[in-house]
Amino acid sequence: MNATLERWSTRRAFILAVTGAAVGLGNIWRFPYITGENGGAAFLVLYVVFVLLLGLPVMMAEIMIGRAGRRAPMQSLGHLAAQAGASRHWRLLGLFGAVTVFCILSFYSVVSGWSIEFLVMAINGDFVGRDPTEIATGFEAFLGDPRRMTFNHTLFLFMTMTVVAAGVAKGLERLNNLLMPLLYLLLLLLAGYAATTDGFATALAWLFRPDFSAITPLVVMHAMGHAFFTLAVGACALMAYGAYMPEHQSLPRAAGAVAVLDVGVALLAGIAIFSVVFTQGMDPGEGPGLMFVTLPIAFAELPWGALWLSVFFLLLLLATWTSSINLAEPMVATLQGWGMSRGKAAAAVGIGVWLVGLLSVLSFSTLAEWRPLFGMNAFDMVTTIPTEIFLPVGGLLIAAFAAWIMPRGEARAALGAGGSGFLLWQGVVRWISIPLAAMVLIAGLL
Ligand code: PHE
Repeated sequence: MNATLERWSTRRAFILAVTGAAVGLGNIWRFPYITGENGGAAFLVLYVVFVLLLGLPVMMAEIMIGRAGRRAPMQSLGHLAAQAGASRHWRLLGLFGAVTVFCILSFYSVVSGWSIEFLVMAINGDFVGRDPTEIATGFEAFLGDPRRMTFNHTLFLFMTMTVVAAGVAKGLERLNNLLMPLLYLLLLLLAGYAATTDGFATALAWLFRPDFSAITPLVVMHAMGHAFFTLAVGACALMAYGAYMPEHQSLPRAAGAVAVLDVGVALLAGIAIFSVVFTQGMDPGEGPGLMFVTLPIAFAELPWGALWLSVFFLLLLLATWTSSINLAEPMVATLQGWGMSRGKAAAAVGIGVWLVGLLSVLSFSTLAEWRPLFGMNAFDMVTTIPTEIFLPVGGLLIAAFAAWIMPRGEARAALGAGGSGFLLWQGVVRWISIPLAAMVLIAGLL
């Protein structure tokens, strides 16, 4: 396969694309509930530490490989490994990434489908005047209805694959350029609104006053998995975006901007969600239903609640859309590299993901009691194993390839940070990121 000539048209477009990939369910749905389950501020501190020491350097490693290879992930890895005289089996890392994004997209599309359903319900004013029990049973009833869930899952996946089929410049870049600024605007509005509620001060204290006794090895492992997930690192998905990175752009600067924007969104979303949760005196440790149950309940009683709730679900939908196109891109690019047309590749990936996604849909009804592994059903499996194990393992191998195997000259050029910047990055990855990830993985799995 020859190197691709496609490029993001500007530096800003590249930053928006990577931010679009990073900001998604991880920030708005997963961050609040997982922080709620794992003790609040202490978890937040861990997560920020992992973003800085692991997520950010490994993100650079991943994009560097794509940028130097200028091919789909598997092909870039194979090409660079051959150049370095290393084993061509490094290509399999790209395949492992494809399996990871495939699993993630299969549930991602289902949960994003929930936000379509809830957006429509919020616009219709369906939650107004409902009492908490009614809203909670409404969510249960929705989960137990495979037909409604399948409809939304199908719609969301269709939206995703159409954009991906349209290509890098006409599809991915346009969507990101349009949606990302809108997303920030909506989020700021929402956070501004949260600041006027009674629970605001409690939310801030809960998010920013750590109680370190809440930290256990498992909490540390959750925080690491979350750092990878939220930055979209470890699945070779950003590697695919790196292949289209413009020639003259500093990668550390771009990656730094993305990390700041990503953590910023999580914090703003957390502040917004916990302010309403505390205003209503609810429990922050509610789990995956946190956003879908507590928010409609909380907003139902607040002035202009239906409007704010609609804004919120719109925000979520936009954010997940720009992430899901990134999840699909490496698979589509790989098939394209094998000679399939982009449209056909997008259709094939879409159908495969749709079918496996049905397992997640049915996990709430027909297959609820099918628990093949450690008592987990299909939905539990695809939401935890790829995030907490595959992403860190993938990230570790990506980092090892970039810092130890890849030809040095290529790596340095791809980082675009000069000689001392390169040495700093390499030192951090070799002696901090890789050992840290390995240690947490071992401790968490034992
Ligand atoms: N970062 C995305 C989110 O936070 C999820 C994602 C993971 C996207 C891995 C691409 C690759 O929702």
